[in-house]
Amino acid sequence: MDVGVPPARFWILASVILIVYLASLCLYRLFFHPLAKLPGPKLAALSNWYEFYYDVLLHGNFTSHIQELHEQYGPIIRITPSELHINDPEYYDQLYARAGRRDKYSYFSGRFGYASDSFSTIDHDLHRLRRKPLSPMFSAKRIAEFQPVIRNKVEKLSRRIAEYQRDEHVLPLNKAWMALSTDIITEYAFAKSYDQLDSPNFRDTLHEALVAIYTTGQFALHFPIVFPILDRLPDWFVLRAQPVLQPVVGLRKDLARKVGDIRKGINEGHKDVSHPTIFHELLNSDLPASEKTNARLGDEAQLIVAAGLITTSWALTVASFHITASEHIYSKLYEELCDAGVASCDELEWHKLEALPYLNGCVHEAVRLAHGVSTRSPRPAPDTDLKYGDWVIPKNTPVSMTNVDVLMNAKIFPKPKEFVPERWIENPGLERYFVPFSKGSRQCLGINLAQAELYIALAATFSRFKFELFETGVSDVEMAHTYLVPYPKWESKGVRVKVKRAGK
Ligand code: HEM
Repeated sequence: MDVGVPPARFWILASVILIVYLASLCLYRLFFHPLAKLPGPKLAALSNWYEFYYDVLLHGNFTSHIQELHEQYGPIIRITPSELHINDPEYYDQLYARAGRRDKYSYFSGRFGYASDSFSTIDHDLHRLRRKPLSPMFSAKRIAEFQPVIRNKVEKLSRRIAEYQRDEHVLPLNKAWMALSTDIITEYAFAKSYDQLDSPNFRDTLHEALVAIYTTGQFALHFPIVFPILDRLPDWFVLRAQPVLQPVVGLRKDLARKVGDIRKGINEGHKDVSHPTIFHELLNSDLPASEKTNARLGDEAQLIVAAGLITTSWALTVASFHITASEHIYSKLYEELCDAGVASCDELEWHKLEALPYLNGCVHEAVRLAHGVSTRSPRPAPDTDLKYGDWVIPKNTPVSMTNVDVLMNAKIFPKPKEFVPERWIENPGLERYFVPFSKGSRQCLGINLAQAELYIALAATFSRFKFELFETGVSDVEMAHTYLVPYPKWESKGVRVKVKRAGK
């Protein structure tokens, strides 16, 4: 039998079938799909390549493009063949409701190769199972008890900053904040801090690894096979073929190993520490054995380390830029901290600091302008149709909103790009629109830890030091790209300062 090249007729038939299939798909998506009548660009309704163009080829630009589409088409739009996006702050509590089941969108969960961490878990009930043993570790009470560790790391950072003051060196402040939040979360997670606060000029942060993971994640959204392939390749091969991806693979494997070490009792460090740690507790929890494998908990570890350091250190960076850029803001904050007698370590008590109105306003503005997670967060409701105005949204439709749209809404926050701590003092009602940690069952797990770090670190630093910006401008802290979290312009060298003695 001849098994050579198929005859021309075969290729013609295959091409015709493909063309008919694509034409039918286009017709279906444009005219017969349940979302066909909703407003939005036809190209977006036709294919996910529309999103790919803005998010991958234009380097994380879909978030800002969606904002432009809302100006053209109104508050509810179809942004991909199967997803709707709403820009209406009043709808936030309804979409991100605590009551009622909300899944994650399976397409979005492909971003990290369908990792098995809580954040990526699609099913509402499985997510509850996975989150339950983690929640007590992040309660306000537990974080209040963990404060001595936070204070200890902040004191270490203060000693490092004092060296820059003495030597009159330029301090890479964004890296210093990243080292601080990395050391805190790794200590809490594994009882084994990465000790990046000891690194010369704060060189050894996870910045490059996380940029690589998030940019790869944006690509993997469209090609979810990327992460499973990367995980299976030997390290030496990745290092040689695509060195930029080494941190992606390296961090995942290192964290899975750390969980393995704890399991085997190899990690002796935890015997000496005075605080409970996340992964010892998780391994001792009543999670079923299938949920406690090294691979599953390695995914959870990557989530907790990445989520714990990137958003918090960025908020600290944004805060320090704005406090330093304005003599008025610095003076008011310094005065409040002095009046409260904050300079000594014992006074750095999270709940007492929260009660200082101006510091409270600074923390709110920092987190608002840092945005937290800056891509949209889709939530299919599996049990019920949602309603928006006159539109009925069929159940299971992924509907998303973007926190940035609420946090930068000029009607709620006039002059939204400006850092105005006073707005939180004058208008406590704004709290309703403070959504950087999201809301509902998938809300940030680490709110209390993030808040404790922000209050203690800012109070300690700005009561002891004054900074002068060094070749740094506002574009170094403004979102130019979105890869799950915001990044400033690529050529930014970060927020760099000269360190001076505190005082007005
Ligand atoms: C300023 C700091 C922070 C901000 C603005 C922030 C923001 C957020 C947001 C918006 C989400 C929900 C994302 C979604 O829609 O699915 C989230 C989830 C999460 N965050 Fe944070 N976060 C911060 C700090 C932290 C810290 C310090 C931790 C500590 C480990 C943490 C751990 C987590 C975890 C584990 C999740 C996933 C929760 C789940 O899916 O159940 N975050 N965060």
